Amino acid sequence: MSEQAAHVVEALYGGEPQSQADGAYIIQTRDLTKRYQLGRNNFVDALRGATLDIRRGEMAAIMGPSGSGKSTFMHIAGCLDVADGGEVWLNGRRVDGLSARELVGIRRKEIGFIFQGFNLIPTLTAEENVALAGEYAGMGRGVALNRARELLEMVGLGDRTRHVPSELSGGQQQRVAIARALVNDPGIVMGDEPTGDLDTTTSEEIVGMMRTVNRERGTTFLIVTHNPEVASACDRTVRMRDGVVVDDGDGTPPGP
Ligand SMILES: Nc1ncnc2c1ncn2[C@@H]1O[C@H](COP(=O)(O)OP(=O)(O)OP(=O)(O)O)[C@@H](O)[C@H]1O
Ligand SMILES: [Mg+2]
Repeated sequence: MSEQAAHVVEALYGGEPQSQADGAYIIQTRDLTKRYQLGRNNFVDALRGATLDIRRGEMAAIMGPSGSGKSTFMHIAGCLDVADGGEVWLNGRRVDGLSARELVGIRRKEIGFIFQGFNLIPTLTAEENVALAGEYAGMGRGVALNRARELLEMVGLGDRTRHVPSELSGGQQQRVAIARALVNDPGIVMGDEPTGDLDTTTSEEIVGMMRTVNRERGTTFLIVTHNPEVASACDRTVRMRDGVVVDDGDGTPPGP
């Protein structure tokens, strides 16, 4: 964002996101900055004032060149990491500045994550992998296992619930990861290149699965992707460059 545009945003929002009261937005970020210090005089400004609103119920893609700050942005918006400056609002509540412990609680209950490498525990079966996330969020084991089986059924793996990850294809493993992300019924699921390790056909299948979950359950999806096909399946494409959102994909021209 240009400095002039930043001033306009500041004037418009007066430091506080608008319409947070009506619940239209699930996540709002304002002017997020993040600097990685590499040495005494050596640093990277990964975010330089990233501002974005994500509406409840939408499916949005984030694209941008490698190093433009997409993962950093998603990790901060998802309360996995903290910014140096700026604001994060989740469900109309300001969450930057909360303690690490409070952020863990928010992550476990309100946000689901899907990553490129699936990140399943190799020694646990599909249903155990999904159920474990439910147990972390406070479900009893029996409840968590039942819910895991329901979700695996939903993602088309009803006949694979007892398989361990090495007995599943990449696409099937990513479907387990989707089920795991949904176990706590989060309002939003964030994916950092969730189809990055998958071939074209399987990518389409996985993005189609997320689209179905989005339509049927109203779960919001925010997906970082390098794949234009994945982005085109989403409602809008946010573009980042050099640590800022250069196009929020809403058709509103940036600045005056
Ligand atoms: N832990 C870290 N320590 C130091 N620098 C980092 C760290 N994480 C990210 N960076 C730097 O911050 C910048 C933004 O990185 P980020 O991972 O957010 O980019 P990205 O848009 O997700 O890129 P890609 O498309 O390659 O995944 C890059 O220049 C990167 O080298
Ligand atoms: Mg990345």
